[in-house]
Amino acid sequence: MDSWTVSSALLLAGVISSAAFSHFDTECYTANGEDYRGLQNQTSLSGGKPCLFWNETFQHPYNTLKYPNGEGGLGKHNYCRNPDGDVQPWCYIADHEDGIYWRYCDIPTCQMPGNLGCFRDSGDPPTLSGTSETSNKLTIQNCISFCRKQRYKLAGMESGYACFCGNEVDLRDHGESPSMECNHVCFGDHTQPCGGDGWVIIFDTRVGACGGNYSSPSEVIYSPDFPDKYGAGRVCYWTIQVPGSSAILFNFTFFDISDQTDMVELLDGYTNQVLARFDWRSPPRELVNITGDFVILYFYSDRTNQAQGFALLYQALRSQDTRVIEDEGNEEDETDDVSSTAGPQLAVWTIYALAALLILTVIAMVAKLLLHITVKSPNIPTVSGSDSCSQSTASSEPWIILYRPSTISLFKKKLKNHHGDLSPLVGN
Ligand SMILES: *[C@@H]1O[C@H](CO)[C@@H](O)[C@H](O)[C@H]1NC(C)=O
Ligand SMILES: *[C@@H]1O[C@H](CO)[C@@H](O)[C@H](O)[C@H]1NC(C)=O
Ligand SMILES: *[C@@H]1O[C@H](CO)[C@@H](O)[C@H](O)[C@H]1NC(C)=O
Ligand SMILES: *[C@@H]1O[C@H](CO)[C@@H](O)[C@H](O)[C@H]1NC(C)=O
Ligand SMILES: *[C@@H]1O[C@H](CO)[C@@H](O)[C@H](O)[C@H]1NC(C)=O
Repeated sequence: MDSWTVSSALLLAGVISSAAFSHFDTECYTANGEDYRGLQNQTSLSGGKPCLFWNETFQHPYNTLKYPNGEGGLGKHNYCRNPDGDVQPWCYIADHEDGIYWRYCDIPTCQMPGNLGCFRDSGDPPTLSGTSETSNKLTIQNCISFCRKQRYKLAGMESGYACFCGNEVDLRDHGESPSMECNHVCFGDHTQPCGGDGWVIIFDTRVGACGGNYSSPSEVIYSPDFPDKYGAGRVCYWTIQVPGSSAILFNFTFFDISDQTDMVELLDGYTNQVLARFDWRSPPRELVNITGDFVILYFYSDRTNQAQGFALLYQALRSQDTRVIEDEGNEEDETDDVSSTAGPQLAVWTIYALAALLILTVIAMVAKLLLHITVKSPNIPTVSGSDSCSQSTASSEPWIILYRPSTISLFKKKLKNHHGDLSPLVGN
């Protein structure tokens, strides 16, 4: 809280608590609504187009003939779904406009916890005013990790390639029908939404953190690196301690662990006794009820077979006491992965490495000097030598020019028209 003004802290508090309240309203826990199984059957609640029935869209790549077993949530209905790993649920519509026969659905109840929403960004000043970067490999978690490492509480993505960090956001910058404005694909992962032009999609940086301390009565915790696949060799602990609660209920709303050694465990916070273990073979099937007020959540992944991970919703059952518990200390640190004894060792190795680098540099300089003297050709002007060298390394064009947002939308249309078979469902 050091550098915050009181008012900005209040703004942030407003955002965070409103997000917390929406946990139980949401019908989606994945970033792109792949898990949406709700009943919206038109593209928008106000003046949207009616959706076609999936059991009647045989001229299109997605229908119940091709996916008869409910894959992707398809069935004898006309609800919005996301069977092809797009950035948002969608459906086919009857009228063809410019050869487009499908539309995204604007579903207010489909927003993953930790996604604080889509905000207008005039850029002057930017909606999130901290550090920023651009990357043609941007994913939601790339950006979140970038901001989290610098201890920001919020991370925002814009236009598919830009990442902004900050600690506060003004709720009034929320637009009219914003989810439709923030569905440009992330350049690093075409199944994730990364904002839009002049619109920034903002996430809590606790999403996908490897570890954390939770004390509020109810929260959602995501596996490390979510919504990307969890990384290799992840070992993460989260503490969930809610003073005054008699039991804590865990609802895994989403579980995808890919091999037997990767696992999730729930431990008693006081005795460290393992109370439940879940993996590929034994996924959690119902609510897990843990008595007490202190639970440790543990995640382990080996070097192979990464997968999407999990989303869990916990809820503390309170005894009589109903005092409000401040949600604090949820800071997370990537260095959790390194054991504490590695600290001094790391420093020693850093010194060795720097010394080695210095020696190598000197050798290289001497070698270059010798080479220069012996092979220097008379027709190369000595003055321009170093200049042209530095020019050529800097000559690569800014990639932003290559990735205009218009190219993205063209690609997306093509994707559903011609490459419908490249679906994640086909693999199943
Ligand atoms: C959408 O569903 C509602 C009820 O769930 C139904 O009344 C309505 O007719 C449906 N609309 C379309 C276009 O199918
Ligand atoms: C598709 O399913 C709906 C709802 O069950 C049904 O009313 C309709 O007749 C079905 N269409 C076909 C072509 O089977
Ligand atoms: C778990 O949470 C989901 C989403 O909030 C809810 O639909 C489901 O009913 C819950 N499961 C149980 C067993 O309470
Ligand atoms: C969970 O366990 C506690 C105490 O053991 C009990 O009071 C509560 O009713 C249980 N809740 C559920 C949903 O099973
Ligand atoms: C959680 O709290 C423990 C002890 O209070 C602390 O050592 C640890 O660093 C905290 N973890 C995070 C991720 O903040």
